[in-house]
Amino acid sequence: MNVSAPEGSRAEAVAIAAERRWAVVVGGVLLLLVAMMVVTGLHWAAMPPSRVETVDVKTLHIAGEFIESNLGTAVGADGKVTVRLIAQQYSFQPQCLVVPADTPVTFRATSTDAIHGFIIGTTNANTMLVPGFVSTFTTSFHKTGEALMPCHEYCGTGHEAMWAHVQVLSAADFRAKSRGVERLSCVAR
Ligand code: CUA
Repeated sequence: MNVSAPEGSRAEAVAIAAERRWAVVVGGVLLLLVAMMVVTGLHWAAMPPSRVETVDVKTLHIAGEFIESNLGTAVGADGKVTVRLIAQQYSFQPQCLVVPADTPVTFRATSTDAIHGFIIGTTNANTMLVPGFVSTFTTSFHKTGEALMPCHEYCGTGHEAMWAHVQVLSAADFRAKSRGVERLSCVAR
């Protein structure tokens, strides 16, 4: 078959036009993806997660909310129950917590060294503890008795031995035990 010169260059022109169209489509898709990255990145940078509380790891033993005498369970003047604790390789402080049943209990906790975490028995009390940040949540316990509270983030060679006890008392027992006591715990003295 004899393909004349003008016909051959027409086929080439069609091929070039098709390639150019696809180059535009691919370039458009790339631009769209980059634009999505830029927009979502700026969006998240402009709206950090709410309620982030920080704490200075170097001074939390000396002053502020997490000094030793302030750890344990506190009943505020308004009757609100707050448990403060710290985690460190490889223990919790206090090692034994007391909480009332069927009462909202707010936990405030942090870590002094590595990332730790805890879960209390089979309840939904479950959080990570990150150095420099205060983890806080409020929950209620519905079953009285003793529960185990293991560290559930691998934090080093002593991780398996890191756990505390939690005593869930009936609201009446808790009230009797906490009367006149500033910070309650069940650590054996
Ligand atoms: Cu602390 Cu694992």
